[in-house]
Amino acid sequence: MIVVTGATGTVGSEVVSGLRERGKHVRALVRAGSAAAEPWGPDVERVAADFADPASLDAALAGADAVYLLVAVHPAMGAHEQNVVDAAVRTGRRPRVVLHTAAGIGQPHDGVRFLAAHAAGLAHLAGAGLPWTVLAPNGFFQNFLGMTEAVRGGRLALPGGTGAVSYVDARDVAAAAVEVLTGDGHEGAVYTLTGPEALSHAEIAERLGAAVGHPVTYTATEPDAALAGMLAAGWEPWRAAGLVELYGLYASGGAAAVTSDVEKLTGRPARPFAAFAAEHAAALRGEPGN
Ligand SMILES: NC(=O)c1ccc[n+]([C@@H]2O[C@H](COP(=O)([O-])OP(=O)(O)OC[C@H]3O[C@@H](n4cnc5c(N)ncnc54)[C@H](OP(=O)(O)O)[C@@H]3O)[C@@H](O)[C@H]2O)c1
Repeated sequence: MIVVTGATGTVGSEVVSGLRERGKHVRALVRAGSAAAEPWGPDVERVAADFADPASLDAALAGADAVYLLVAVHPAMGAHEQNVVDAAVRTGRRPRVVLHTAAGIGQPHDGVRFLAAHAAGLAHLAGAGLPWTVLAPNGFFQNFLGMTEAVRGGRLALPGGTGAVSYVDARDVAAAAVEVLTGDGHEGAVYTLTGPEALSHAEIAERLGAAVGHPVTYTATEPDAALAGMLAAGWEPWRAAGLVELYGLYASGGAAAVTSDVEKLTGRPARPFAAFAAEHAAALRGEPGN
C-alpha cells in the first residue's frame, strides 16, 4: 500500500491517479476540511491527517509499504517533512520514502528558504534508516496558470532577471514519481526533474503570447519592488519572501540546468512549455469554464 501526501495538490493528485491506473492500493492523505475536489473513485482509500499532528500521521501511515512525501510550502515545511519521516519510522515496516523536494537541493541553498527547508527534511530522512529516493523538480509550468491576469494584460512582470529556467510540467513530475514508487533500483537516487529546455522569462512570455494570440512581454522587476507588490496584494510574508528568493536563484542562472531524468524514468521526453501553453490557451485567456 502506497500513502500519498499532498494528495489534493497539483502533483499529488496526478500521482494518485497514476498509481490508481497501475492498479496500486493507494491511501490518499487528505487534510480534514480540505476544500479541494478529489477526482478519484472509491478504490482510493482516504485518510484524514495533518503534517503538524504526529498522531494523525501514525494512523495515516500504518501498514504503508511506500510513502510519497510532498509537503506544502509553509513556514514549518521542513518540520512537516520530518514529522512524516518519523511516523514512517514508527510503523516499524521500513517503508520506502520518496521525498518531493525542489531542483537546487544539492547546491548551496543559503538564502533560499524553500530549498533550506527541503534540505533539512532530506538530512533527516537520510539519517532515519529508511530506504529513500529524492525527486527534485524545477519550477512547474502550472505556476503560469496562476498568472492569467498578467497574460491577459500582455505584461508578465517577475523578479527573474534574465536567467533561464528549465521549468517542468507537474504532470511529468507525477509520472516520474509513479515510476519510482512502483519500480525497483531507485534507492539513494536523487532525480532532478526538468523540462526539455531552459527558457528565459522573456522566452516564456513570447510562448504565452503565441498561445493566447496576442503579444505578452516580460518585464524584470527588482526584488524589493516585487516583494512590496506581493505584500500589497495580500501574500503571506514568509511565502512572498521565499518566492522572491527563488526568483533570485532563477535570475542568477542557478535553475537553468536541463536533465534527462524525466525521460529516463518515464520512457518519454519531458513536455515542452510551448505545448503546455497551447493546451491551456483558453485558461490563460481567462475564458469561462477553463
Ligand atoms: N510550484 C513549483 O514550481 C515547485 C517547484 C519545485 C518544487 N515544488 C515543491 O512542491 C511542493 C508543492 O507541491 P504542489 O504544488 O503539488 O502542492 P500544492 O498544490 O500546493 O498542494 C499542497 C498539498 O498539501 C496539502 N497540505 C497542505 N497543508 C497540509 C497539512 N498541514 N497537512 C496535510 N496536508 C497538507 C494540501 O491539502 P489541502 O487540500 O488541504 O490544502 C495539498 O494537498 C512544495 O514542497 C514545493 O517546495 C514546487
